[in-house]
Amino acid sequence: MRKVLIIGIGAGDPEHVTVQAVNAMNAVDVFLVLDKGDTTADLTEARRAICERFATQRPYRTVVIADPPRDRTAADYEGAVRDWRDERARMIEEALLAEAEDAVVGILAWGDPALYDGTIRILDTIAARGNVAVDYAVIPGITSVQVLTARHRIMLNRVAGPVHITTGRRLAAGWPDGCDDVVVMLDADLACRAYRDEDVDIYWGAYLGTPDELLVAGRLGKVVDEIDAVRREARARKGWIMDTYLLRRV
Ligand SMILES: C[S@@+](CC[C@H](N)C(=O)[O-])C[C@H]1O[C@@H](n2cnc3c(N)ncnc32)[C@H](O)[C@@H]1O
Repeated sequence: MRKVLIIGIGAGDPEHVTVQAVNAMNAVDVFLVLDKGDTTADLTEARRAICERFATQRPYRTVVIADPPRDRTAADYEGAVRDWRDERARMIEEALLAEAEDAVVGILAWGDPALYDGTIRILDTIAARGNVAVDYAVIPGITSVQVLTARHRIMLNRVAGPVHITTGRRLAAGWPDGCDDVVVMLDADLACRAYRDEDVDIYWGAYLGTPDELLVAGRLGKVVDEIDAVRREARARKGWIMDTYLLRRV
């Protein structure tokens, strides 16, 4: 039975890595790394640096798997993501089959593996197919949402209130019902612009936890153009951007 450890490594700062994650890394024989190509070479490098810094107690190997391309033009967004995940599952299954049956395999997940990360579902898919006997454990990590609130020194929720976590794509379709505090992730187009005339505060952060970290906060209508400009400049300079924000109706 191959053992897979899905290890949350935090959202950018190596000091986010927990003691539990360090112990898990030191039990790993081989790390599987999904290489997403040039635009996220920085993230692949960050993962490599984390292994080098923390997985010090025994030798390990690294197997790089080229991430399959995703059809970003497909009308059926969820279908395209499913196809992409199936292809990833197939490649990871192949990589697992190439390892010894008692191998411990590590997969580093950005932030926490439970939040907008496909690794757990991929392992579920592989286990369900039954081509390779696999058992897996999940080691939690610090999410970008936690880093965002810590950097802005704010609470995620208001007193006993709910919080809604969603994507830019869904926010573009409308403000979620029944919740005044909305965290937005995976937003390529700053969908919050649609609410610039409403009484909404924004707490925005990009490259959180890294030396390139950017933070802006204020009344949405007043700061959204600044965020847009800062974001465009940073994306042009680095070739990629990862940002997260909290919208709070006031
Ligand atoms: C595929 S999801 C992964 C989320 C991750 N599992 C987590 O726990 O934060 C990628 C999205 O997470 C957010 N994100 C991840 N790391 C970030 C960082 N260092 N700074 C800002 N946002 C980040 C962005 O919204 C990005 O589009």
